Amino acid sequence: MSTKTSHLGGWKLFWLIAAAVLAMSALILALNPDPAEAMRSVIRATARSSFVLFLAAFVASSLATLVPNDFTRGLVRERRYIGLSFAFSHLVHLGAIFSYGVLNPQFWPSRSALTNLPGTVGYVFIALLAVTSFHAISKRLSATSWKRLHTVGMWTIALIFGLSFFKRIPTMGVVYAIPFAILCAAVAVRLVGKWAQANKRQLARTRSNPQHTSPQALESP
Ligand code: HEM
Repeated sequence: MSTKTSHLGGWKLFWLIAAAVLAMSALILALNPDPAEAMRSVIRATARSSFVLFLAAFVASSLATLVPNDFTRGLVRERRYIGLSFAFSHLVHLGAIFSYGVLNPQFWPSRSALTNLPGTVGYVFIALLAVTSFHAISKRLSATSWKRLHTVGMWTIALIFGLSFFKRIPTMGVVYAIPFAILCAAVAVRLVGKWAQANKRQLARTRSNPQHTSPQALESP
């Protein structure tokens, strides 16, 4: 009997999300008569699709610890493909940024190296996380280095999303406080989830090796 399931996961999920991001961008371009404004809207829309995908990958394992159910376990199982879909969505963000630069020649001169710095650092991490999610590359890294890179990368990208939304609150409206607040909630979920995972591991270690209990426990009468 075949063990293959027909669930929507793996590369099928990746291609579905990638197609949705492309369809959304094409629709925005088709519906807006001003090409430069349309491209700017694609930049914004892909930043938002990336944000949703990033959040799902960012909280997946913590959510599965705090609220274990089929959905959260599914998120963990598909985390790699959700992460790659986020990288794809942000690749479209980058493509739209360069196209906007062509359509609006004042765009790049209006920006400085400093204003481009967080985004550039973000793209370096997105590229590193994406390539190291393939076994052919990740096998060259130790498990500790891989984990360190992915932890630092995810937190850096979260910080850049936070900055991007926060800096728009005074200039573009208080509505940008909503995604900023959602990000803060995701940070809280991730921290509490990681803390719960560490506690679980500690408990499991103590159970499997009772001699390694705390010194206080050994000293008690
Ligand atoms: C050098 C690289 C980057 C450049 C030049 C850039 C440029 C832009 C531009 C021009 C906009 C639209 C501004 C507007 O019309 O209001 C935008 C929006 C945005 N970008 Fe990027 N970006 C870069 C990288 C990134 C990265 C790495 C992230 C996240 C990790 C990011 C997240 C966002 C967000 C959250 C928005 C706001 C979307 C909204 O309006 O809801 N960007 N970016």
